[in-house]
Amino acid sequence: MPSGFEIIIKDNPSQLAKEAIDILAMTARDSITRRGRFVMAISGGSTPRRMNRMLAKEPYRSEIEWDKTHIFWVDERCVPENDPASNFGAANKDFLCKIPLPSTQVHPMPGRALPEEGAALYQADLEDFFRPTDNDYPVFDLILLGVGRDGHTASLFPDQKSMETSEKWVAVVKGGDPDVYRLTLTYPVLNKAKLICFLVSREKKAGIVKAILENRLAGLPAQKIQPSEGTLIWLLDKEAASLLEKGGSP
Ligand code: 6PG
Repeated sequence: MPSGFEIIIKDNPSQLAKEAIDILAMTARDSITRRGRFVMAISGGSTPRRMNRMLAKEPYRSEIEWDKTHIFWVDERCVPENDPASNFGAANKDFLCKIPLPSTQVHPMPGRALPEEGAALYQADLEDFFRPTDNDYPVFDLILLGVGRDGHTASLFPDQKSMETSEKWVAVVKGGDPDVYRLTLTYPVLNKAKLICFLVSREKKAGIVKAILENRLAGLPAQKIQPSEGTLIWLLDKEAASLLEKGGSP
């Protein structure tokens, strides 16, 4: 079980993005004070794009010490970075190319490589960066996740039972929309994070948000996100939260 759990509901997608930036900035300040650096992993999809575009502009842009920040990806579609489906490509266009973040501190998943090679390369990148001891997993300061209408998160889909026991750090999966090969961080890596924040907006997500937060037996991938020693936040807009009856519980 997470050491902290919170559901935050904001009025609209714009307020949601602003709150997400506040959480990011606060976590960055705290991580830099304690450890001298801030390491986060971000997701793809459409929901974080508003926040990412806001991050590129003042007053938000100056809230983060980018020179002490490192960005990894939660998942990536196996496509070149100039493909519209590329998570790195979207993030680069929305904010990475507009902020003073050294390129050596940006760690895209290798979408152009063959999937298994890409997974091995990313595992090596993570090992090189985190240098964990005792076969432990990397520990991110913050992981931002989204959720699909089928309850997937990252590229961990409901029909992939083998992922539930995978001890790898990075896995290859096929599926989703677009239905392509993907690289994804696995449950044990995600669940090691100090803070995990789901960002969910719009009415079309209300049904799955209710199932995740109010039906313990649904067995959905997003429900398997339970940071072992960290905090879990569900950041929703009013539409996404509209079917919740009792505020939700993990
Ligand atoms: C991806 C994701 C995925 C995403 C959800 C929500 O690369 O597809 O990381 O897990 O976060 O599908 O996507 P939307 O924000 O587009 O609804």
